[in-house]
Amino acid sequence: MSALSAIVPRCCAVAVVVVIAAAMPTWADADTGRTGSRLTDDAVVSTWRTLRAVDCARCHGKDYQGLAAPSIVEYARTQSREMFVRMVLDGEPSRGMPAYRDNPLIAAHIDDIYRYFLGRADGTIPADPRPAQR
Ligand code: HEC
Repeated sequence: MSALSAIVPRCCAVAVVVVIAAAMPTWADADTGRTGSRLTDDAVVSTWRTLRAVDCARCHGKDYQGLAAPSIVEYARTQSREMFVRMVLDGEPSRGMPAYRDNPLIAAHIDDIYRYFLGRADGTIPADPRPAQR
């Protein structure tokens, strides 16, 4: 993606991604019904910032790979999108996982958040995605 965005002006990057995604059905993970559409670099960074602001790391660890609470990355890797969304929006309050349905930062961006953790799980999104200069 970053190689692409280096040679393609920002304005066209989205169109290019759509064309490539359409041409490459392998981007869709058929067995789980996951949509393979990738986050843009900007969406990755803004999702990363949202998760920092809400501080999932407080319980799930610095890179969300487990601390007092289990790894979110591993959960995205092994569970369905439905399970993931339900877990984050409804939580598991009796076991210490808050419900985020009433938090617009999370609820409005739940698809990006899921795709962020899918990217973390398959290695396409680094733990700290911030560009060096920002
Ligand atoms: C106050 C601590 C706390 C915070 C903050 C928190 N979680 Fe959790 N989370 C937990 C606990 C504890 C569990 C395990 C619940 C269980 O055992 O069923 C959990 C479970 C999960 C799971 C399922 C993992 C699994 O293996 O069962 C996901 C996904 C998840 N949290 C996502 C998030 C996200 C995304 C955020 C931030 C928006 C967040 N959590 C913030 C405590 C927290």
